[in-house]
Amino acid sequence: MTTLPLTTEPLTLLVTGGAGYIGAHTCVALQQAGYRLVVLDNYCNSRPQTLQSIERITGQPVIAVEGDVRDRALLDRILREHAISGVIHFAGLKAVGESAEKPLDYYANNVAGSLVLLQAMQAAGVKTLVFSSSATVYGTPQFLPYTEAHPLAPVNPYGRTKLMVEDMLRDLHASDPAWRIGILRYFNPVGAHQSGLIGEDPQGIPNNLMPFIAQVAAGRRAFVNVWGNDYDTPDGTGVRDYIHVSDLAAGHVKALQHLQQAPACLALNLGSGQGHSVLEVIRAFEQASGRPIPYQFAPRRAGDLPAFWADATPAERVLGWKAGCSLLQMCEDTWRFQSRAGALA
Ligand code: NAD
Ligand code: WQD
Repeated sequence: MTTLPLTTEPLTLLVTGGAGYIGAHTCVALQQAGYRLVVLDNYCNSRPQTLQSIERITGQPVIAVEGDVRDRALLDRILREHAISGVIHFAGLKAVGESAEKPLDYYANNVAGSLVLLQAMQAAGVKTLVFSSSATVYGTPQFLPYTEAHPLAPVNPYGRTKLMVEDMLRDLHASDPAWRIGILRYFNPVGAHQSGLIGEDPQGIPNNLMPFIAQVAAGRRAFVNVWGNDYDTPDGTGVRDYIHVSDLAAGHVKALQHLQQAPACLALNLGSGQGHSVLEVIRAFEQASGRPIPYQFAPRRAGDLPAFWADATPAERVLGWKAGCSLLQMCEDTWRFQSRAGALA
């Protein structure tokens, strides 16, 4: 008697914002874990070429759909035509300063976008979602490290859009416990894929520390402004929980696999559990790049918190996931991507 091999069709996922920084790295990890992907992106903060880089890394095709996550008819079509079984939702705007200048853009994109997506998923019977939340939802630390039980009190419009979507997801799960929802609260994602093919390449002056330092190392900017050296931290500069974007990507795969076991609504921190100061990051980048990083101290940046980092133990306990990359690796991979991007420019 011959037995036929059991063939299980790979599951197809919709990745909104999959051409963006975290989305692209997660697409790589998802494809390497055996999922088929449809990426929906309007490229408002990314480029379609990134999808080719993903395909080059994994050797797997990405089905690309250009469009907006608020386009209900488009979502209905994608969910139906591609037999989508779950959604990883990255699409949104993410600049804290801009969210105070243009709050309605942030509510429209982040909140209304998520609402339209959830309505389309509900209508199609697709009930698995992983959502990009942020440590920003915690606001001013009442205690550190932030645990998932820390009060949620964001201090800027961007953070409030993330909290509103989290609340929407908790209400949805309470109304229908068949939903499988992973709310992942990212800390400070940095670094790039080891290949140097994908990474963070912000347009204009970078808001965030790591891309700014990388541009100084590359000679595109003269020095780093260190925003504040009088905080109550070991060296006076701000302390954050930096996490390698590839570790973060792996966390999404683990979250999805966990949700496939049983319905749930989980909120988990994805951080390294360790804080590093601005000066530590500058020194690590000097070591990684072999170049000096000139810096000068400047006044505190409005709205900045002195220090925060994650309690990362629940993610380890629940998902079996832990960030593995050191700060030096984060800087080395950023530098490899930056050097390559510079060479191609
Ligand atoms: P990103 O800007 O690189 O990626 C977002 C992607 O979504 C981009 O490709 C953009 O073109 C796309 N997009 C935006 N609005 C869209 C819309 N309406 N329709 C379709 N596509 C749209 O940002 P990222 O750093 O990769 O962040 C991804 C997600 O993670 C965001 O939701 C962000 O708020 C969240 N997050 C990011 C950080 C961080 O520091 N990078 C930290 C915490 C949470
Ligand atoms: C890190 C540290 C700065 C730039 C932001 C968002 C947060 C999340 C991640 C989305 C701070 C200092 C920075 C510079 C500096 N995004 N710094 N000189 O502010 O922790 O978090 O990105 O969810 O919501 O607020 O990250 O990289 O901007 O700053 O000294 O040129 O570096 O003061 O201490 P932040 P960051």
